[in-house]
Amino acid sequence: MKGRFVTLEGVDGAGKSTHQQFVADFLATKAPHVIQTREPGGTDLAERLREAILQNPMAPEVETLLIFAARADHVTRVIRPALDAGTWIVCDRFTDASVAYQGAGKGVPADLIQRLSAAAHAGLAPDRTFVFDCSYEVSQQRLAGKKLDRFEREDRAFFERVRNRYLELAKAEPRRVRVIDAAQPLPEIRKALECNLADL
Ligand code: TYD
Repeated sequence: MKGRFVTLEGVDGAGKSTHQQFVADFLATKAPHVIQTREPGGTDLAERLREAILQNPMAPEVETLLIFAARADHVTRVIRPALDAGTWIVCDRFTDASVAYQGAGKGVPADLIQRLSAAAHAGLAPDRTFVFDCSYEVSQQRLAGKKLDRFEREDRAFFERVRNRYLELAKAEPRRVRVIDAAQPLPEIRKALECNLADL
């Protein structure tokens, strides 16, 4: 039996990292093995690329190429072998982040992202994706006091473009992509996550 691939997405500050452990623990009640990983990252090489991507200003196309280089390494070395071995995966961000951030946020052409996705992970898509959604105000409150990377320092217009693209992705693929209102109290969020994992 192949494993299942669950991804966590959303605007910065929605609190997705807080929910990753909960999702992994919940899945561990029904799956033989569960691993947690993240993008950009998840392998030695991809983690080094992550540092470069988050710290250095660069043209959006360059950023996109580096993100997909990291993704291709992660898919080849970690994600595909794990799924083939029956392991379930909880991954903090995947290609939907490139569609939202590089595509909608920074104007990288959709067909470039499409072609890079095909090169990096042909035939592989998440089985379930959670989009943690919140307003700009909530995001700003949650990020207050944190040392911000260059994505988290983008302006409100950028935030709204990213947020809207995530919501559009959920509309376009309602079976796979589920929106979670990240402004709700924690117990409500956990209930929503459990409901939306029951049919996996
Ligand atoms: P994030 O998950 O927010 O890391 P952390 O919770 O540790 O701050 O990811 C870091 C940033 O990378 C985030 O602001 C969005 C950006 N990103 C993209 O722009 N495109 C991508 O394809 C991915 C995977 C991430």
